[in-house]
Amino acid sequence: ATSGMNAKIADLDKSSVYCPADGDKHLSVFSNAPVDNLDTSMRAGTRGPTSIADPVARERISHFDHERIPERVVHARGAGAHGTFTLHTSLEEYTCAKVLTKVGQETPTFTRFSTVLGSSGAAETAREVRGFATKFYTQEGNWDIVGNNIPVFFIQDGIKFIDLIHSGKPEPDVALPQAQTAHDSFWDFMSLTPETLHMAAWSLSDYTIPRSYRMMKGFGVNTYVLVSATGKRTFAKFHWKPHLGTHSLVWDECLKLGGQDPDYLRRDLADAIAGGAFPKYEFGVQLVSEEDEESFDFDLLDCTKLIPEELVPIKWVGTLELNKNPTNYFAETEQVAFCVSNMVPGIDFSNDPMLQLRAFSYFDTQLSRLGGPNFSSLPINRGVCPFISTARDGHSQHRIQAGPHYYPNRFQTPNAGKCPHGKGQNYATSEAAVKEAALADPETMTFAPHKVEGLRAKQRPPKFADDYTQAQLFYNSLSEVEQQHMAEAFAFELGHCDSRQVQETMIDRFNEMDHDFAVTIAKSFDYEVGEPKHPNHGKKTTGQQPISMLDSNN
Ligand code: HEM
Repeated sequence: ATSGMNAKIADLDKSSVYCPADGDKHLSVFSNAPVDNLDTSMRAGTRGPTSIADPVARERISHFDHERIPERVVHARGAGAHGTFTLHTSLEEYTCAKVLTKVGQETPTFTRFSTVLGSSGAAETAREVRGFATKFYTQEGNWDIVGNNIPVFFIQDGIKFIDLIHSGKPEPDVALPQAQTAHDSFWDFMSLTPETLHMAAWSLSDYTIPRSYRMMKGFGVNTYVLVSATGKRTFAKFHWKPHLGTHSLVWDECLKLGGQDPDYLRRDLADAIAGGAFPKYEFGVQLVSEEDEESFDFDLLDCTKLIPEELVPIKWVGTLELNKNPTNYFAETEQVAFCVSNMVPGIDFSNDPMLQLRAFSYFDTQLSRLGGPNFSSLPINRGVCPFISTARDGHSQHRIQAGPHYYPNRFQTPNAGKCPHGKGQNYATSEAAVKEAALADPETMTFAPHKVEGLRAKQRPPKFADDYTQAQLFYNSLSEVEQQHMAEAFAFELGHCDSRQVQETMIDRFNEMDHDFAVTIAKSFDYEVGEPKHPNHGKKTTGQQPISMLDSNN
C-alpha cells in the first residue's frame, strides 16, 4: 500500500484468509465465493483512496445501482398473493379448458390488486379504479384474467387508451398528480368523450373506494369466447364476487387514511392472510350463445356496456382462495407479467376492439419493463405444465434449454402437425388444412375455425352509439345514500377544475344520464341545466331492457 500516507504493512491487521468450513453458509457476492468483510472497502493504506480492484465493494454497489426497473405504465401500485382456484361446477358444455371442466381440481394462482393512475408509491385510498388480475397456473399453460373492479371500461377502442391515461396522469410540466389542472385534463377528456360516461358514473360511485381488497368485486370487462370440445363458441363475461360482500370506504375516511396510512389496502390484505383469514371469491361467467349475439340493444363487443344480470344471470362455478403472502415483493408482485393473451385451449378472444389491442400491449410493455423476451421464464411467470419450445436465447435467459431449436423435428415431435402436449392442437396453417382437420377430428380442435368477414373499416359499429342508457341503468340501481355520495364525489372532482367550460360540459353530460342528478350538481356551480336529455328520464322500464341493475352481492 503506497498511498503517500505513512501506512506501513506492519501496522495493518494481517489476519488469516477467511475460509469457512465445508457446508457452512457464508456471506458472498455474485460469484458466491466467501466474503468476510462487508464493512470496509479495499483502500490504499487505511486512510488512502478506495481501490476499484475491490470486487466485493464494486459488485455490491453496482447491483444496488441497478435495483430499480421501470414501474408499470399503468397499475404501478399493487399488492399480490398466492392462492388456489377450485372448480365446483363444470363448464364442459361450453369449454374444453380443463381448469373450467374438471370439478374438484385445484389450480395454483397468483393475484395482484392495483390502483391505476398512481405511481408505485401513491396512496392506495385515492378515488381510483382498481385492478384485479389473476394468473392460473393450469396443466395446459398459464391463463390470465386481467380485470378491474368495475364491469365496464371508459373507452370502446384501444386506440384511445393513450389519451385516456395521459389525461389522468400527473401534469406533464410539473408532474403534480392531484393538482387543479390534472383534474381539468381528466374531466376535459371525459366531457369530450361521451362513451366514458357510464364508467365515469361508476368511478364517482363508492365502488372505486373499496374498504378492502378482500371486499372487492372483479370483472374481466371484455367479452371473451369459450370454445367447447366440439368447436362450439360461446361468448363469456368473467366475474369475481368476494365472500365477505362488497364494501366501500366513505370519502372522508379515504382522505384521512390517505394521510395516516397510505398503505392501508396492502396492509389489510397481508395481515388477513398472515392471520389465516384467507380472502375468498366466487368465480362466475355470463354466457351468450353465438345465435343470441344480436339479441341485445347493445353490442357484446362494446366494453363500455355490461350484460345486465336480469338478461343473463351469472353462473357461479368456482372459488378462489388467497392463502399465501409473497416471499419477495419484487420477484413476485413486481415481476409478475399478466397478459390477456395468456390463454389456454378452450378460451379465446372475441372481436372486442379493446381486447385485441390489449393483447398486444401487455406483452409489448413487459419486453421493456422486464428486460427482454425471457420474462415468461421468471419464477413467478413460469408455467407448470411440461412443454417444448423452440424459442431460444435473448437477454437474461433463465433456462438452460436442450434439444432441437426448430419445429417440426423428428426427435421431439414425430407426429408433426400436432401439438406435442395435450390432446393434439392442430397447427395446420392453410385454410384448407384447418377445415380438413376440423372435419376429420372435431373433438381435438382447440382453435375452432370461425367465420371472419367484412370490409376493412375504421368505423364505430352502429350499436356502440348509445353512450347513456347504461349509465342511467347504473345510476337507477344505486340507493339514495349512494346517489348522494356520487353527487358529492362529482362536486368534489369538478370543484377542483379550473375551467368553467369543463365544469359545464361535464354537467351537461350527466344531464344525459339523470336530470335531477345534474340539477343537484349544478347548484354548487351556479349553473342552469337544460331540459332532461335522455328519453328514459323518469321511466321505470324500457321494455326488453331493465332500467336498473341487479347486484348479485346483496
Ligand atoms: C396493466 C395497457 C385496458 C386492466 C396494464 C399495463 C399496460 C396496460 C401497458 C401494464 C402491464 C405491465 O407492465 O405488466 C392497457 C391497454 C388497454 C388496457 C393498452 C386498452 C387497450 C385495460 C382494461 C382493463 C385493464 C379494459 C380491465 C379489464 C389492467 C390491470 C393491469 C393492467 C388489472 C395490472 C396488471 C398487474 O397487476 O400487473 N394495462 N390496458 N386494462 N391493466 Fe390494462
